[in-house]
Amino acid sequence: MASTDSGTPLVLVSNRGPVTFGPDGEIRRGTGGLVTALIGLASHREVTWIASAMTDEDVAAAEENEGKPFTVEAPGGDEYRVKLVASDPDAYDRFYNITANPMLWFIQHYLWDLSNAPDIRRNETEAFEFGYNAVNEDLARAVLEEIEDLERPVVMVHDYHLYTLPGLIRAVRPDVFLTHFVHIPWSQSDSWRVLPTVMREEIYRGILSNDIIGFHTRSYRRNFLQCCEDLMGYEVDHDAGVVHCDDREVWVRAYPLPIDPKGVQAVAARDKVAEFEEELLRRRRDHLILRVDRADLSKNVLRGFGGFDLFLQQHPEFRERVTFIAQLMPSRTDVPEYAEYLERIEAVVAVVNHRHGSPDWMPIQLKLRDDLEEAVAAYKHYDVLIVNAMFDGMNLVAKEGPMVNARGGVSILSENTGAHEELGEYALSVNPFDIQELADSIHAALTMPSEERERRLAGLRSVVTARNPGDWIDDQLADIRRKGKVSA
Ligand code: G6P
Repeated sequence: MASTDSGTPLVLVSNRGPVTFGPDGEIRRGTGGLVTALIGLASHREVTWIASAMTDEDVAAAEENEGKPFTVEAPGGDEYRVKLVASDPDAYDRFYNITANPMLWFIQHYLWDLSNAPDIRRNETEAFEFGYNAVNEDLARAVLEEIEDLERPVVMVHDYHLYTLPGLIRAVRPDVFLTHFVHIPWSQSDSWRVLPTVMREEIYRGILSNDIIGFHTRSYRRNFLQCCEDLMGYEVDHDAGVVHCDDREVWVRAYPLPIDPKGVQAVAARDKVAEFEEELLRRRRDHLILRVDRADLSKNVLRGFGGFDLFLQQHPEFRERVTFIAQLMPSRTDVPEYAEYLERIEAVVAVVNHRHGSPDWMPIQLKLRDDLEEAVAAYKHYDVLIVNAMFDGMNLVAKEGPMVNARGGVSILSENTGAHEELGEYALSVNPFDIQELADSIHAALTMPSEERERRLAGLRSVVTARNPGDWIDDQLADIRRKGKVSA
């Protein structure tokens, strides 16, 4: 098994694993930023990745392997050592569809419309107790089994699904070294007051059972430290990034997540991508605007189309000359808010297309599917990439697109995305709520002189290639070694 430099074995645990088994026996890569982040680490260094069995076929694979780790080959040929953990279906449903999404996700992305929602009733408190905690317990048991024979094991926990898991592991294995990386924003303290105190404190005590907690940006780190003071009354050293919790010290760090540029370029070179490009180029007009996202409320898809609508109204000379491709992967569709969001997206697209379109020109082309190769084909040919999330963890699309784009594509980037801390200088920054600003930015991007476009694209690439996922993990391992020694 693999390990830190000092030879300590490495175990990853997250809700979503690197692959999902589908109904026809196919193996699909898991979607979303977390999998993109960890996939390189898990294929380059031998680690055991413990994750929830999310489909019926995942459950079958878990049973076939008697709950033990097994090796699986992902579509690109990489191999992972995974251990899939099946939970009671009802508990999992409450965990995923009530507590993690929407409750925690909405808090951490400021998505609740507080005069209307959420209502906290027994349904929500029981979902936390018998859903969220039950799944955290199942995964904790799987981790404990995995580290049973290891001395001073290191466990890297991931994301908002697993806030109570670290406490469960720590209780049984006080010698474990636990790190927790949160892939989404950490919102300011008042947003957490939506949760009943008991639930909130359980969450904070859980995550503070880690030795190190990592975030994508300095601003999420700052918010977390402030929350520990405001909501838990802990003593916090803001400069050093340390929370003094009872007799323990918890380090809080920012580790901005890089992408693997070579990985995206390798996908871009696939035959399947070339096929998609051919189709795209056959249909393309003078200009192509692109967005690629999960169909998530935080991504601000509706205001994105609103900005495009306004742009076409104010600049009719661009009619028939520009297409906006929106590739959106349907996501969490069992959560009513997400299902409704998809319906609203389709309705807005119909309105904009009806308002501006002509018999042979459809201004917005909506692709509701999860196809990495199709997305990468479009990355190569956009003139403008829109990433206008309201609040978002990192937004790796903003890093991936420029690595393979061949048209001097301009990035329009929301100032509330994690990527903005690094890429803002070379992007057109927008306030995601300001639709007029977005319309103006689309115009500015499409009329920008080509030297300026190339300068910005080169700048984006230089920032993106300055660090790779290996550096990201090395930074964390270096801190693990430093802190491990401190507390030893
Ligand atoms: C974000 C989260 C991940 C999650 C991903 C996809 O990137 O940080 O934890 O896996 O979205 O969402 P899903 O619900 O499909 O796993």
